Order: sequence, then structure tokens, then C-alpha cells
Amino acid sequence: MREKFGFLICVWILLWGDCLAKLVVEKNSLRLTSPESIKGVYESAIGTFGVPQYVKTLVGTVVYPKANQRSCKNFDDFNVSFKSKPGELPTVLLVDRGDCYFALKAWYAQKAGAAAVLVADDIDEPLITIDTLKNARYVQNITIPLALITKSLGDSIKKALNSGEMVNINLDLTKSLAHRDHKRAKYEFWTSSSYECGPKCDNQIEFVNNFKGIAQVLEQKGYTQFTPHYMIWYCPQAFVLTRQCKLQCINHGRYCAPTPEQDFGNGYVGKDVMLQNLRQACLFKVANESGKPWLWWAYVTEFATCCTMKEKKYTKECANQVIQSLGIDLSKIDKCIGDTKADVENPVLEAEEDAQNGNGSHGNVTELPTLVINNRQYKGKLEKGAVLKEICESFQEKTEPSICFSEGHLPVRVEKNL
Ligand SMILES: *[C@@H]1O[C@H](CO)[C@@H](O)[C@H](O)[C@H]1NC(C)=O
Ligand SMILES: *[C@@H]1O[C@H](CO)[C@@H](O)[C@H](O)[C@H]1NC(C)=O
Ligand SMILES: *[C@@H]1O[C@H](CO)[C@@H](O)[C@H](O)[C@H]1NC(C)=O
Ligand SMILES: *[C@@H]1O[C@H](CO)[C@@H](O)[C@H](O)[C@H]1NC(C)=O
Ligand SMILES: *[C@@H]1O[C@H](CO)[C@@H](O)[C@H](O)[C@H]1NC(C)=O
Repeated sequence: MREKFGFLICVWILLWGDCLAKLVVEKNSLRLTSPESIKGVYESAIGTFGVPQYVKTLVGTVVYPKANQRSCKNFDDFNVSFKSKPGELPTVLLVDRGDCYFALKAWYAQKAGAAAVLVADDIDEPLITIDTLKNARYVQNITIPLALITKSLGDSIKKALNSGEMVNINLDLTKSLAHRDHKRAKYEFWTSSSYECGPKCDNQIEFVNNFKGIAQVLEQKGYTQFTPHYMIWYCPQAFVLTRQCKLQCINHGRYCAPTPEQDFGNGYVGKDVMLQNLRQACLFKVANESGKPWLWWAYVTEFATCCTMKEKKYTKECANQVIQSLGIDLSKIDKCIGDTKADVENPVLEAEEDAQNGNGSHGNVTELPTLVINNRQYKGKLEKGAVLKEICESFQEKTEPSICFSEGHLPVRVEKNL
């Protein structure tokens, strides 16, 4: 699993009751800022229960209790409290795995005043898959995050604490919060209509072909809101009249695309790519307005197959044939494209530029192809299974699209080994 999904391994902890949460295993989610000997960035599996959305990073000092080290009993019985005094960093309670369920450990830690709880695994193993979190009756009252860490990290922290050092920690909760509670997943695909540029483009069109069926089902059933995007360059004002800009740009230097790397002797230039990109963006707009955004997938796959540069068919005529075969109103597309020779703005491309330049919390998109899922740039493999899995993780238990199961990406397991 680790290999298959690259550096993002997501594990679900399924809770029931009013408060559903997931436990997500992530690299870089936990940072020890002191002491020097164990300073560094670590992996952890974080579950956020009722943590307020605005808590993005939790900074605290780690404490390992002298008694009740598994946090399976009330800390009141041991006469200890982990409430921090004014001016002190909040307490992150380190406890050991075993004897009782995670929810109970978090509950007792919270009652004793801890701001977060780290559960150290009790055997040496990679952070393992845990699925159903038991003891849900406590869950609705839990407001602190819980992070499962490896035994070896737990041991290192204990060793540092034993020798009297102060262990400071940063827990990054952004990712686990982003995973929660989406009724509808949003995703964007930053792409280009130029599919003939070597391995990177091959991968792109292969993904679109393979993902098309899933994308259409998800969209039709209302599980996703998909938007395609196209990168746009512009020609600096002083160069608008140069041959270079004229070959690569439309609308008087406003919107440009690089000339395809691969030349089949057909002389397709950046301007042609830009025009087809605009046509695709307009097709999406028109299809979306008619309530059928998924037609974009049908169009793009058909266009990539039929209207290749290699066969000198990367043309308006070929594109229009595909558009008509899909029953889309061509006049609406033409109207959206507008006069690309004129010195005017195009509203669709203006919106694309905004989207590209960081209007959105996902940061600037600088590379093609890029997939943005729930406002985060997806870094995994551009491959059907991996992408579906990431999208499926947007949903709460029992609300996932059935395709998430039928494609075999969401096995349901039960919290085991306590
Ligand atoms: C608990 O702590 C309080 C205050 O620190 C102390 O007065 C009391 O004797 C302690 N009780 C027990 C059972 O240790
Ligand atoms: C959880 O919170 C609810 C409402 O705030 C309260 O009625 C209930 O007693 C709490 N449960 C526990 C186990 O403390
Ligand atoms: C597509 O349509 C939906 C629903 O009408 C709308 O909310 C969304 O903003 C549209 N997307 C684009 C890119 O126009
Ligand atoms: C994103 O692009 C805009 C415009 O090019 C720039 O002003 C901004 O600094 C960029 N943001 C990041 C995070 O790179
Ligand atoms: C960002 O986009 C939203 C709509 O998508 C728009 O309402 C808002 O004005 C934009 N912000 C900027 C700074 O362009």
C-alpha cells in the first residue's frame, strides 16, 4: 500500500454517531522542535474529532504520565492534571497503546486537560491500517486531536523526557481537517489540449481516458464538482507585435500557450493550442450550464483520439464535429470563444488567470498536468486508482459513493490489537 500510493497513505478510522472522523497517516504531520537529539519531522496518523476548523497547527510540550500510562482510566483517580498554566505551552500527552480503545484514551487525556494526545504504538511496525474506531460513545465529546506514532518515536521521546529534557512538538492538522465532512468533493484538473508532447502528455491523456468513466459517474450522481483548467501565459506589452507573440497568443497577446515541442511538420504553434484550450474551457462552461458538466470528459477523450496533430486534424473543423456529435450547441461555444483576433478580454480566460494565480487556497499552479482535490494540490501518481482513492477520502462513512468500494479502494477493517 505504501509503495502504491507514494508518500500519502491514508487510513480511515470510521466512527459513528454524530461525529465522524478519519485517521490519516501522513508524512510530515508531526515536528519535534526540541530537544536537538530528536528534532525532526515524523509521520503520524492523526484523527481530529471535534477540533475547531481554525486550529491548523497545534504547538505543545510533551508529557508522559507517571501513572495510567495507557490512559485507560480517569486521571482524577491519580490526582494529576495536565492543564497548562497561563503562559505555558499546552500539554500534549504521550500515552501507550493497548488495554483500551483510542477514543477512551483521548477522552481521559482531554478530561485531564491535555490539548492533544500522542499514542505510541506498542510494537515495532509501520503505522498500520486501523479502520473502525470503537468506543464511539465517547467520541462526540472529544475535542482534542489524537495522533498515533511509531513505537520507536515514542521510545525516543520517553528517553528524552527521562533525561530531563523538554520535548516540544508541532502537530499539523490542516490535512486531516481538509479530509473531513465533504458532502461533495471538489477537484480541478489543470491540463492542455496539446497531447503530443512526449511521456508527460501520454500520461495525461492515458489518465483522462482511464478516469473518464469514473469521473462521469461521480459527477452525474452529484458526488463531485469537477472543473477543468488551462494554464495561460501572456505576452509582455512591449512584445505584443512580435512574430513570437503572434504565433503563440490570441486576443492581442493576452492569452498564450507554448508551441508544442513535438513538431510533425504541420506547423502547429502555441496559438493553435491556446485556441483549442479555449474551446475546451468554453465547452465545459456550456456543458456545465446545461447541467451536464461530464460531457467535458467525452469531448476531450474523443478530441484526443480523432483530432490529432500527427494526422493534421488538430483543427476547428475536427473539434466542431466532435462537439456536434455530443449534441452540444455549437453557436454557444462560438459565442464563448468570441473574436480571438480582437484586442479584447475573454471572460472565461480572465477567470482562468485568476484561478491560476493563487485565487484559491491551493497556491499557484505552475506545472501541467496538476490535479487539485478539495483545494489541495495532489502529489500522488496520476493514475485512476490512486486519484479515486484520494477523492473517496472526502466522504464520511456510509456516504461514500459505491464506486469507492466497487473499485476496491476502501476495505473496511476494525480497530484491532487495541
Ligand atoms: C491530590 O493533590 C492535592 C493538591 O495537590 C493534595 O492536597 C491531595 O492530598 C492529593 N491527594 C492524593 C490522594 O494524593
Ligand atoms: C457529552 O456531552 C454531552 C453534551 O454536552 C453530555 O450530555 C454528556 O453527558 C457528555 N458525555 C460524557 C461521557 O461526558
Ligand atoms: C458549474 O455549474 C455549477 C452549478 O450550476 C456552478 O456552481 C459552478 O460554478 C459552475 N462551474 C463553472 C466553472 O462555471
Ligand atoms: C502566485 O502568483 C501571483 C501572480 O503571479 C503572485 O503575485 C503570487 O505571489 C504567487 N503566489 C505564490 C504563493 O507563489
Ligand atoms: C476569487 O474567486 C472568487 C470566486 O471564485 C471571487 O469571488 C473572488 O473575488 C476572487 N478573489 C480575487 C482576489 O480575485
